[in-house]
Amino acid sequence: MKIFVDTADLNEISELSESGLIDGVTTNPSLASKSEKSFIELIKEISSLIKGPVSAEVTAENLSEMIKEADKLRQISDNIAIKVPLTVDGLKCCKKLSDEGTMVNVTLCFSANQALLAAKCGATFISPFIGRLDDIGINGIDLISDILDIYDNYGYETQVLAASIRHPLHVLQVAKVGSDVATLPPKIIRQLYNHPLTDKGLASFLSDWKKSGKKIT
Ligand code: G3P
Repeated sequence: MKIFVDTADLNEISELSESGLIDGVTTNPSLASKSEKSFIELIKEISSLIKGPVSAEVTAENLSEMIKEADKLRQISDNIAIKVPLTVDGLKCCKKLSDEGTMVNVTLCFSANQALLAAKCGATFISPFIGRLDDIGINGIDLISDILDIYDNYGYETQVLAASIRHPLHVLQVAKVGSDVATLPPKIIRQLYNHPLTDKGLASFLSDWKKSGKKIT
């Protein structure tokens, strides 16, 4: 499973990219609004830090304005994926950009039928928001499974990008059902390393080693 980092924080992206684990970045208007940089400058800097897809979201709601914004954003770098909302105009924009060879991430997906439409419009990524479904008592993982089944039935190449991931159990669950990508907040990426038995085991190994007085070199 590919791991994207879901943040617009340049320091976090830079630090996490050194792990070799980060395959891409997703941003959204809420995350980008925390930065003091202009959106274009921010996306430019992010796309220079990471080789994989960097999602940059349009904020216009009608097709012609979306296309104008997308044109500016896709000129920044070859690794920009234009993020569009799952609306009628968003999907028209997706179809146009995809036909022109631009990567598109269709966001704010909450149903398998919406995901079917995005695939038919040539989306590179579909972003189902699992945490926000869990928030209203609907199982977000079932949505990921349903979309994967539907895409498999018809051979759609759109990649399922599990978004709105809130905790490490979500990561395990989307990996078990075969999500192509999960986009994770930096805090969750760091949590994935941790296990108390790893810490306890390491402390015990190192203590025994120290007592023995042995050295590797
Ligand atoms: O990738 C979408 C994500 O940023 C939304 O997460 O936690 O605000 O639902 P959340």
